[in-house]
Amino acid sequence: EKEFHLHPKPLALESNGPFGKYDRAQLQRGFQVFKEVCSACHSLKYVAFRDLRDLGYSEAEVKAIADQWVIQQPSVNPDTGEPSTRKSLPADRFPAPFANEVAARAANNNAVPPDLSLMAKARENGPAYIHSLLTGYRDQPAELLKKFPATKTPEGLHYNPYFPNLNLAMPPPLVSDGQVTYADGTKATVDQMSTDVSAFLAWTAEPKLERRHAIGVAAFVFLLVFSVLTYMAYQNIWASKK
Ligand code: HEM
Repeated sequence: EKEFHLHPKPLALESNGPFGKYDRAQLQRGFQVFKEVCSACHSLKYVAFRDLRDLGYSEAEVKAIADQWVIQQPSVNPDTGEPSTRKSLPADRFPAPFANEVAARAANNNAVPPDLSLMAKARENGPAYIHSLLTGYRDQPAELLKKFPATKTPEGLHYNPYFPNLNLAMPPPLVSDGQVTYADGTKATVDQMSTDVSAFLAWTAEPKLERRHAIGVAAFVFLLVFSVLTYMAYQNIWASKK
């Protein structure tokens, strides 16, 4: 039986494996992709601007980044009757791009773009899945249509074999090389941008990964030394009973 739903292609990131560390330059590029492309529809509600210090941005750069995002306040401007707004500060989280769910659905063919903070953890093999999803849009295979005519991509949805139900409301967000101009001069192919934003979303979902890896290594070394000591103590205690 032919599978039409595909599992993610493997994605090699420096943060993979028990000793993995984030590639800061890659995280900055991924952030650039998020900022210039994804943030038009997606929020990052668990990430504060000041968390970007961890990517290597200075305090002044973080301030300048936060300043580009307008945030809605709970209060109403008494002069206009509109919700009052202000520029974001480093302590603010990334604001949602739509005022509310109705506005989000209205702009996205009745789907709500999910918050991306924890997406890399919410999906199995998250970063690889995100990379495959972003690079996986294609025409629907004729064979699939013949076999399961009901799967025909409805008007306004897009076929993607990495998405579990095959048709999704997100239009392909990364379509042409050079869509983002990287600050570090890296060539922005679609694959590069997809890889970088996947690495960035791995970081948003687990900013303390490096600390976890370091503690794991320390715990392992401790237990190893402890085991040797216990074995030596055991030998010593029973030495006279041979
Ligand atoms: C869903 C990533 C840009 C609209 C998603 C999902 C991911 C994602 C991982 C969840 C898929 C799942 O549920 O398994 C990204 C990334 C982007 C990006 C990394 C930037 C490179 C955009 C843009 C729009 C958009 C620009 C709007 C034009 C949506 C919508 C959904 C969605 C509506 C829900 C799809 C559905 O459930 O049918 N996106 N996205 N995304 N995205 Fe994006």
